[in-house]
Amino acid sequence: MPIILNYSNRFIHNSVQNITTTLKKLFYLWRRSQVPIKLPIKISKIDNLIIFLICILISIISSYKLLLISPLNISDISSWLLTFSEALVSSGVLILVSKRENPTITSRQIILLITLLLSVQASKLALGSTISPLSIIIPPALIISQGMGSITALTWVSIASLSWPESAITINNNLFFILLICASIVSLLGGRIRSRAQLLQLSIFVPIGSFLSQWIFIGENKISLIDKQEFIFANDNIFSDSFLLAIVMLFTILFIPIFESIFGLLTKARLLELADKEKPLIRRLSIEAPGTFEHTLLICGLAEEATRIIGGDIDLIKTGALYHDVGKLHAPNWFIENQDGPKNPHDEIDDPIRSAEILQAHVDEGLKYARKNRLPKPIANFIPEHQGTLKMGYFLHKAKEKNIKINENDFRYKGPIPQSKETAILMLADGCEAALRAMNINASDQEALETISKIIYSRQKDGQLDDSNLSKGEIYLIKRAFLNVWKRIRHRRIQYPTAKNNTFS
Ligand SMILES: [Fe+2]
Ligand SMILES: [Fe+2]
Repeated sequence: MPIILNYSNRFIHNSVQNITTTLKKLFYLWRRSQVPIKLPIKISKIDNLIIFLICILISIISSYKLLLISPLNISDISSWLLTFSEALVSSGVLILVSKRENPTITSRQIILLITLLLSVQASKLALGSTISPLSIIIPPALIISQGMGSITALTWVSIASLSWPESAITINNNLFFILLICASIVSLLGGRIRSRAQLLQLSIFVPIGSFLSQWIFIGENKISLIDKQEFIFANDNIFSDSFLLAIVMLFTILFIPIFESIFGLLTKARLLELADKEKPLIRRLSIEAPGTFEHTLLICGLAEEATRIIGGDIDLIKTGALYHDVGKLHAPNWFIENQDGPKNPHDEIDDPIRSAEILQAHVDEGLKYARKNRLPKPIANFIPEHQGTLKMGYFLHKAKEKNIKINENDFRYKGPIPQSKETAILMLADGCEAALRAMNINASDQEALETISKIIYSRQKDGQLDDSNLSKGEIYLIKRAFLNVWKRIRHRRIQYPTAKNNTFS
């Protein structure tokens, strides 16, 4: 009898556990349905068609020579088909990799990426044996690594180096190896370089490196073509080719700002330029909304520390943080950090719905400022995503107190919720900033950590971090980073004891 009872107890226990798990899942799905879903990259049908046509063109250029053999037999046709589909699949893989590395990539940038591949294939065909492959492949790799990241650039380099439309040209193995090494160095460094001066250094050192390596590994062994034409890389040609590479790279650097503005590329150098506090919009923020400017600077510190600790993009978050609240410029006095005296315009209008609209307006107006100042999309994304779909708790509470018939969604920001780790960190920093600033100077580390954890947990519970890809471990590290910044702030606020007569130190 006790055994039967034991079994039935266990059965009931398991069933309750299953029901609870199912209910939890249903609750999670319901909660997810309340916030906007992750936005996919929108590419119009025309852009899709253009991208597809360019890919087809790349495949044709890469393979059509195989059809010019006469007489044509089945094996020729099948090898053409293989090369054609290989080029088409490679272009598709390249697009996928670029989308993966740049979740906010635009159709214009994808078109640039594959047009560069198309022009490389066309120039190989037109100039194949008269120009060094280094001058054809390395400069575009620099543009791609700067604007779309190292992984996209490396993928592009491997496709552009491996697929040769002219099968009659054989490249010397050593030259091919040097090409791959130089292009990979440019792709890897190009993604990290933070100033135009470093870019200039790269455009000098890579050609010197390529010259020395060609001299050592190829030297006087001239590269042969299949038709045994006496040709190219005697020492003179190695020098002139490396010199040409340097010139093409220098021109590429000159043209990068044009690529930035036409294709909306966000290079590290552009990010740093935008982060300049002398930019007109930031100057206006510091003059017209000094409280918001102070809040912004503190958030930059919190967000930077947290991003560094999880290995995110520090330059992106620093610049994004600087612009996240520019929308407050439209009505600075409506935000508490800019209010001087006890007067609060929200109390004067005494209308919670109107107050909620004014809060939402700092996001809408911010996006307008971003468009007017031509801020790149990844920076503009910080403006709506730092507020996500957060509840405007204070005004919701006031409306409930006044017994106004309300829809809770009118008291939530319109979103979307953070779509990247960086925008999520900014949301958390934005939430913790005021609380940390208001904390007692004598508060212990434990108390500060508890405050930070409470704020972060409330965002998590509200589903605001669902699309951000932040792991639990990363959230833990973010809390520690915020605590470190708080310790620094506290340290700064402690008054140093000074001797009475000491008036100069
Ligand atoms: Fe805000
Ligand atoms: Fe803010």
